[in-house]
Amino acid sequence: MRLVGNWSYPTAIRFGAGRIRELPEVCSAAGMKRPLLVTDKGLADLPITTATLDLMEVAGLGRGLFADVDPNPSEKNLEAGVAAYNAGGHDGVIAFGGGSGLDLGKMVAFMCGQTRPVWDFEDIGDWWTRADADAIAPIIAVPTTAGTGSEVGRASVITNSETHVKKIIFHPKVLPTVVICDPELTVGMPRLITAGTGLDAFAHCVEAFSSPHYHPMSQGIALEGMRLVKDYLPRAYADGTDIEARAQMMSAAAMGATAFQKGLGAIHAMSHPIGAVFNTHHGTTNAVCMPAVLEFNAPAIADRFQEAAAYLGINGGFDGFCAFVQEFNDSLGIPRKLSDLGVTKASIPELVKGAIIDPSCGGNPVELNEENLTELFARAI
Ligand SMILES: [Fe+2]
Repeated sequence: MRLVGNWSYPTAIRFGAGRIRELPEVCSAAGMKRPLLVTDKGLADLPITTATLDLMEVAGLGRGLFADVDPNPSEKNLEAGVAAYNAGGHDGVIAFGGGSGLDLGKMVAFMCGQTRPVWDFEDIGDWWTRADADAIAPIIAVPTTAGTGSEVGRASVITNSETHVKKIIFHPKVLPTVVICDPELTVGMPRLITAGTGLDAFAHCVEAFSSPHYHPMSQGIALEGMRLVKDYLPRAYADGTDIEARAQMMSAAAMGATAFQKGLGAIHAMSHPIGAVFNTHHGTTNAVCMPAVLEFNAPAIADRFQEAAAYLGINGGFDGFCAFVQEFNDSLGIPRKLSDLGVTKASIPELVKGAIIDPSCGGNPVELNEENLTELFARAI
């Protein structure tokens, strides 16, 4: 099968190896003459970034670059990015990278014309309507990992640098106008990141599938997303140049983020404060939390995962699925305990405080409270 396609759901996606070469055409279709490419520090000097800037320059689009973006981007990164955008007279953003580059790029486009502070647009009720929608710059997203799925999302996660709390900033116009999914850009990802980001996509599918909200479209996408990760992540991990595996993982990432419109749950509610306090890798943290959360959610999800296990070719129903998750983690070099990531027992009260106010809490199939979250953290540590 040739893994190439043009999709219009959930936004316009140009999918296929080598399609980064279409970037200049995509920029002009989006009305950009002077785009700013936003990415993170780690990617700034890599050949994939330089080659993309070359493509822009040759097409007369300049080589505007902002890369002062931390792994967990903060409002300080955002302020600097907006200043660079406005000083350079840019007219659109190319959000390029993994979760941090994509999320911050989307926020620079969102905030470049707003007058209120970013925290006023947190994903609470209808706060997004406070924004001046006409002042939002166009966004082209180019993922270089296969996990976050932020390229098809309408929100970004920004860490408050003072309180260390991660906030979700939402606006419908933060959904990129066009996404270029080119699996060749992910070939150089180190194995650890391939595993961690791939398991983030898996966690998105598992949590969306577990969420009690009614959204049958998401349910189907989450199930097929789990299958793609199960079948192709081991291949991408074993051989980073396996372009078919890289392509299927890139699809799984976009599918996970599409599916979690149905909701996330305890895995992400735990992982967000852990990442904010201990600066751990998001996808790896999710993977470590998953076995404990599956066990905790068992009374509410066992039936549903019986069916999923059958579809995925896993014997033993829900218990078989749980055993598969642990073996899968082990085979991908994921530690078994949060303490292996540096998380301490002493931090549990602070982590519980962060988890309980995390928006992901609402999508968990078993209601979360301080007591059961304390237990869950203790078990996972
Ligand atoms: Fe995630």
